[in-house]
Amino acid sequence: MKRMETLFEQGPHRWAVIARDPERASALIDTNEYLVSHGRESLLTDPGGMEIFPAVFAALANGADASTLRWIFSSHQDPDVVSSLALWLEFNPALKCYASKIWHTFLPHYGGNADTFICLPDEGQTLQVGTLTLQAMPAHYLHSSGNFHLHDPVARILFTGDVGAAMLPPEEDTLFVHDFDRHCRYARGFHQRWMGSREAVLDWCDRASALGLDMLCPQHGSIYQGADVQRFINWFSELEVGAGLGRRAPASA
Ligand SMILES: [Fe+2]
Ligand SMILES: [Fe+2]
Repeated sequence: MKRMETLFEQGPHRWAVIARDPERASALIDTNEYLVSHGRESLLTDPGGMEIFPAVFAALANGADASTLRWIFSSHQDPDVVSSLALWLEFNPALKCYASKIWHTFLPHYGGNADTFICLPDEGQTLQVGTLTLQAMPAHYLHSSGNFHLHDPVARILFTGDVGAAMLPPEEDTLFVHDFDRHCRYARGFHQRWMGSREAVLDWCDRASALGLDMLCPQHGSIYQGADVQRFINWFSELEVGAGLGRRAPASA
């Protein structure tokens, strides 16, 4: 059973993560879903695949008021990100889904119609949750060609989709990163293979570094907090990624 844990709370403003499902089928990659709430409105990032919908929904309903959910934020188009969309729309047909404009004819294959999607322009845009203003931050080619992260400047949190993901063995699968150097062993192979463009990595690292983050929250693996946020950005900026690696065997995770 997945559980919801609060990451940040200040008055009506809350970030909570739904994480760690020991009962999921072993063939499925584990995912983190983040609920951003402000008063009577909330948004869920990358709600996950259809197979895990019951676990995510149960954790959400146990840890928060599910009736406040207004929006889904889809960092990109992958099945582990948003293939549960039709099931969320059964719960609330009025839900809206933010996603890159390039996916607006692809995502309806998971569910919804033209009214469901709010197309994000390449340069990103602001989003309102209650009176809170969030920023959809471009992260194209990291790894998807239409890819966004979500920045909360008040909570100093950046949701980063697959950036920062690590494939952790069960005994090291903690909610927060505890030993950065050890953790990176489980992130290296994934980032080298999935992140397609070194130019995109360097551009993202410059922008992320300037945000003054307290937490970097990926869709898979442990959350980076405190000094580990900048450690990750520095590590990523120096990592060899992308197509050039295809000429030789990729590093293992
Ligand atoms: Fe992905
Ligand atoms: Fe993913």
